[in-house]
Amino acid sequence: MNAPAHSSAQPAPASASRSQALSGRIRLPGDKSISHRAFMFGGLAAGETRITGLLEGEDVLRTGEAMKAMGAAIEKRGEEWVIRGVGNGCLLEPGAPLDFGNAGTGSRLTMGLVGTYDMKTTFVGDASLSKRPMGRVLDPLRLMGVQVLDAAPGDRMPLTLHGPKRAAPIDYRVPMPSAQVKSAVLLAALNAPGVTTVIEPVMTRDHTEKMLAGFGASLEVETDAEGVRHIRIEGEGKLVGQVIAVPGDPSSAAFPLVAALIVPGSDIVIENALMNPTRTGLIETLVEMGGSIEILNPRKAGGEDVADLRVRHSELRGVTVPPQRAPSMIDEYPVLCVAAAFAEGQTVMEGLEELRVKESDRLAAVAAGLAANGVDCTEGESWLVVRGSPDGKGLGGRGLGGGTVATHLDHRIAMSFLVMGLAAERPVTVDDRTMVATSFPEFFGLMAGLGAHIE
Ligand code: S3P
Repeated sequence: MNAPAHSSAQPAPASASRSQALSGRIRLPGDKSISHRAFMFGGLAAGETRITGLLEGEDVLRTGEAMKAMGAAIEKRGEEWVIRGVGNGCLLEPGAPLDFGNAGTGSRLTMGLVGTYDMKTTFVGDASLSKRPMGRVLDPLRLMGVQVLDAAPGDRMPLTLHGPKRAAPIDYRVPMPSAQVKSAVLLAALNAPGVTTVIEPVMTRDHTEKMLAGFGASLEVETDAEGVRHIRIEGEGKLVGQVIAVPGDPSSAAFPLVAALIVPGSDIVIENALMNPTRTGLIETLVEMGGSIEILNPRKAGGEDVADLRVRHSELRGVTVPPQRAPSMIDEYPVLCVAAAFAEGQTVMEGLEELRVKESDRLAAVAAGLAANGVDCTEGESWLVVRGSPDGKGLGGRGLGGGTVATHLDHRIAMSFLVMGLAAERPVTVDDRTMVATSFPEFFGLMAGLGAHIE
C-alpha cells in the first residue's frame, strides 16, 4: 500500500475554463463510504475478505494502514485487495498514533471500532480533521465505559482513547443525522456483551447495517410508525470474511454529472453509479430542476442497486430543496450550488447545519466561492439561497487572481468550483487541487477525457 501523500504536498492551484460540449463514457471509482467499511470489516472479521472496485483514495488507504497497525494483513493482488482479518474482539494495540489525514469517516468509525478495547489508541489527522468535532462520537463511547485520556479542546484530535475491561451495551438515540455517529456506536457494540440499540430518527446511509449483516453480525432493523429506525446489534459475535464488489461512488459521480448538465451540448454516460436510496438525493433534485438524467441498465451489484447515468446538457430552473432530503445528498450540496448558479431563478436549500462540520465549513466556503465568482447568493445559519445566471454570463473570476476559491483542505469544494469554471464566462481558479486525491484521484484524468479544460 502506498503511503498517502497530501498532507506533505505543497498546495497547487488549478483553473477550469469554458469547455466545448462534454462527451464520452466514464467508469466511476469505488464508493468511499463502502470502501472504508470494506477495509475495516474485512480487517476485523475472521478469515479472508476479497475486495474489487475499492476506491484507492488517500482517505481509504489511511483506514487500511490503521487496520494493518491493529493486526490485519492487507495486500493487493492484481485487481483485488485481499485481507486476512484478526477476528472480532482480537484487534491489537497499535504501536504508534493512527494518522487519518483528512478522513472524518475513517477516524470516527475507527474510534467506535477500537474505543471499547482495553487498550490505548491515539488518533491524529491533518489541520482540517483536527478542527472537526469528535464529541459526537466520544459521547456515546463514554456511556459504554470508554475513557478519553487526552483530547484537544472541544473534544478534537489529536486524542487518545482507552477502553474499559468490559464495555457496557447501550441504547443510544443519535442526536444529529449522521451515519458516522450511528456507525461508530454499532462498531463499538461489536466488542460489548449483549444488545446495543441505536435509534435513528432520520435515516442516513445504511452501508454499515447492510455490510455488517453480510459479515454475519446479529443485527436487526425495525422502523416504527413514526419512521424512526431501531437498530439492534448483538456484541461479541463472530464475523466472517466476505467477497465484496464496491459500486461506483455517487458522490464522485456528482461532479461530471453537474458538469454535463451545465456545459452546452454535453452528452455523457457515467457507468456504475451506486443507486442506494440513501445516496440519490442529488439526482432527485437535479431532475426536479429539469436536468436530463436517464437511468440506464439498473441492476444489483454487491447487494446494492447500481445503474449507468446518461446525462445531457439541460436548461435548469431553481427549486426549493426540502430539508428532509439533506441526509441523502449531504456531500453534494457544494456541487448542487454550482448547478443552481446556472439555473433560472433561485434555489433554496435548508436544513444544512451539518455542512458546517464537514472537511471545511462548507456553507461558508461555498458562499464565499460563489460570491468571489459573481454568483448572487445569501448565506444563513443553516440555509443558502443561490440565484442563477442561466448561460453563465458574468460568472467566473475577475482579473489576475480575482475570484480564487479558498478550498480550506476540502476536496469537494475544489472539485465543485472546477466544475463551475467549465461553463462560466471567465475561468474559475481554486487555491489547491491536492486534496482531490483524498476521494477521487481519477478526477482530473476522467474530466479531461470528457473534454473538460482544467489545468
Ligand atoms: C459518511 C457519512 C457522512 C458523509 C461522509 C461519509 C459515511 O458524514 O458526509 O462523507 O461514510 O458514513 P456524517 O455522518 O457526518 O453526515
